[in-house]
Amino acid sequence: MAFVIIAAVIVVGTVLFNLVTPWWFTPLASNWGSLDQTIIISLWITGIAFVLVSAFILYCVVKFRYSEDRRSSYEPENQKLELQLTVITTIGVIILLAPGLVAWQSYINLPENGLQVEGVGQQWTWSFRFPGEDGVYGNTSGSLFSSKNTFGLDPNDPKGQDDILIRDRQVHLPVNQPAVFQLRSKDVLHDFYIPQFRAKIDMVPGQVTKLWFEPTLEGEYEIVCAEYCGIAHYNMRGVAIVNSVPDFQFWLDQQQTFGEFQQQAASSSGGVTDKDGELIARTKGCIACHSIDGKPGIGPSWKGIAGEDRVLVGGGSVIANDLYLKRSITNPNDEVVLGYAPMMPPYPLSEEELDAIVEYINSLGE
Ligand code: CUA
Repeated sequence: MAFVIIAAVIVVGTVLFNLVTPWWFTPLASNWGSLDQTIIISLWITGIAFVLVSAFILYCVVKFRYSEDRRSSYEPENQKLELQLTVITTIGVIILLAPGLVAWQSYINLPENGLQVEGVGQQWTWSFRFPGEDGVYGNTSGSLFSSKNTFGLDPNDPKGQDDILIRDRQVHLPVNQPAVFQLRSKDVLHDFYIPQFRAKIDMVPGQVTKLWFEPTLEGEYEIVCAEYCGIAHYNMRGVAIVNSVPDFQFWLDQQQTFGEFQQQAASSSGGVTDKDGELIARTKGCIACHSIDGKPGIGPSWKGIAGEDRVLVGGGSVIANDLYLKRSITNPNDEVVLGYAPMMPPYPLSEEELDAIVEYINSLGE
């Protein structure tokens, strides 16, 4: 009898918990209310089945509990009962599956008039591209990726010249307009996910995946990576800022095109500055592990380390001068600072890029 009471308390408690839980969906900010409804229908169907099956089990435990003089009856076939169970189960499964198929149908049908945006994922940051005035993305190739060409754009493709490049983890979107995202990964499997929009899809290296949504509320929404992609996965975050259409257009008009970036690079004097280093640190994803404000992270913060005495794992110490900082980027696991694990992948950057990053680290204070 104790078992029946405890089990009944667990069943009732489970139902109550689901009815009053504070851990519910974040407020919806897109057109995908149908996905929420699908989940809620599934919860009700499985919840009802859970209560009925549990109640039946507890009933049987009480009704058929052991008694010495009772004999079991043998009834191998009961066609009526089998038919009833088959019909009920079939109806339940149809109600579970059908709403999902309806929602999925509109989820994979991209609107033709949608705003085209590309999201690029890499360990452990995001960047974005708009196709520009011609409305067509320029060709890209994995072999063209470099720290000057972080999108791998083909410089000889005329369609790419007007592509607008957002070399940042923040992107703006217009409210009440469908946005069609095409998604690429530079390295490993990631997953593009904005919880308040409900929209979510994997980013597969070597492939382009697509999804769409229509933001319905202005505001800032976190873009998260929803696929474990290495040590700083938890910190692979971006921001989608939903603006009114004029505000969005104002922002977009201020962004630079691939053509403008190329001109700038060609006319620059060749010297590097801390600003170049900051851009490299952002586009390479360094700041997912190394904070620039002294906050602890997976790796040491860059703030104030330039010129410092660093105690190493295994004894000894080293002055964090320019040479040491460069060695720590190209051969990060040779001289690891005490308190950190040897887990950073080597970054084979050019001498010019190394100069720029060191310049940036130095600018963060000694
Ligand atoms: Cu990218 Cu997890």
